[in-house]
Amino acid sequence: MPAVEAIQLTRTFGPKVAVDHLDLTVNEGEFYGFLGPNGAGKSTTIKMLVGLLRPTSGQARIAGIDIWQEPLRAKQMIGVLPEGLALYERLTAREFVRFVGAMYGLSMRDAAQRTDELLALMDLDADADKLIVDYSQGMRKKTALAAAIIHTPRVIFLDEPFEGVDAISGRAIRNVLQQLRARGATIFFSSHILEVVERLCTRIGVIAQGRLVAQGTLAELRTLAQTDEHGTLEDIFLRTVGAADESQEGAGRSLSWLA
Ligand SMILES: Nc1ncnc2c1ncn2[C@@H]1O[C@H](COP(=O)(O)OP(=O)(O)OP(=O)(O)O)[C@@H](O)[C@H]1O
Ligand SMILES: [Mg+2]
Repeated sequence: MPAVEAIQLTRTFGPKVAVDHLDLTVNEGEFYGFLGPNGAGKSTTIKMLVGLLRPTSGQARIAGIDIWQEPLRAKQMIGVLPEGLALYERLTAREFVRFVGAMYGLSMRDAAQRTDELLALMDLDADADKLIVDYSQGMRKKTALAAAIIHTPRVIFLDEPFEGVDAISGRAIRNVLQQLRARGATIFFSSHILEVVERLCTRIGVIAQGRLVAQGTLAELRTLAQTDEHGTLEDIFLRTVGAADESQEGAGRSLSWLA
């Protein structure tokens, strides 16, 4: 049974087709990296997979359960770090993460204990009793991540977990994700930090203009993109999204007044 399945998943916004009949399968225990240029449809896909944005058509399943038909059953199994972190600004991080734990059905005692451990791990303990409204961007992200994993979800979706996070916390987050995976969790995350994706992922999918343009292990992608064995993920990425030719698109253009 795959952990995550998108079947002909589609979302349009007016005339814009943000996600275009996407078929995608992630098996249990995989660390799946979801890449693509800005506006490719990554966040839209993730939102449909986790039940935050209704698909125009197609299906999203978690461990075989359709998240739009049986949302409660499916949502119990997942943890989500969404694109726009929706936090309760007037709570402290400690209150917020405990609250989320309790909402997932943990006892108050377990929720409190897990919260303290998670906040310590994220190096947030000194600020844990400050209101979230006064937090920096990185502190918010770490709070949201703690809330996303407090119930030990089987499948974890993270939309750009490393963006805006310092190197120390980045390492802490990587370690947590690897620990979760070692316990059998499946991880699905989007990122623009190719070096991290290269290091962590067992499989990578590349989306451009709402379609999956490449998928596989790093080695498979190298073959697909016809780079040599030393080809970095950046080389592969630029080739598969069609930006390798520098005369094309943004990268090769120059500003007239800088010429
Ligand atoms: N609520 C919305 N209303 C209208 N258009 C939207 C909406 N959300 C997304 N889009 C459009 O859908 C497309 C895909 O957006 P999406 O946010 O999924 O991209 P992304 O791959 O996550 O990009 P980024 O790397 O910049 O986060 C874009 O063209 C975007 O303008
Ligand atoms: Mg996005």
